[in-house]
Amino acid sequence: MSLYSEKVMDHFKHPRNVGVIEDADGVGEVGNAKCGDIMKMYIKVENGILTDVKFETFGCGSAIASSSMATEMIKGKPLSEALGLTNKAVAEALDGLPAYKMHCSVLAEQAVQAAILDYYKKNNIPYDEADFKCVLCAHEHDEHGGDDGE
Ligand code: FES
Repeated sequence: MSLYSEKVMDHFKHPRNVGVIEDADGVGEVGNAKCGDIMKMYIKVENGILTDVKFETFGCGSAIASSSMATEMIKGKPLSEALGLTNKAVAEALDGLPAYKMHCSVLAEQAVQAAILDYYKKNNIPYDEADFKCVLCAHEHDEHGGDDGE
């Protein structure tokens, strides 16, 4: 049982902010090409603040825990702060993920960026592509954790 932290198990068993926002201001869907897992993030934005965040994850336990933690970390925060959320920060907030599961947390980072990008595009808000490099760049992100082991 030491493979996963108590926080990972808690967020996996009792994920926060699961669901759909029907009238979302932005929706982001991302997938991991290797495992086939998918994550969808819905956001509501008011005056540049993320007033609500919900997610659906068709994926592994680490992906569910990561997306749950990510929503808690960005809810109520300004968009600029949410854009700075890294998968490493999500994994750290979960008291760590096994190295070979770090890529699951990348889905959360990408899903947040994808939802915010969708919001910017829908509202014709100019954006800096550098802020969305995690979701805009084409290559895979499995090494994102830095110490992924592989
Ligand atoms: Fe696919 Fe975790 S194994 S996201």
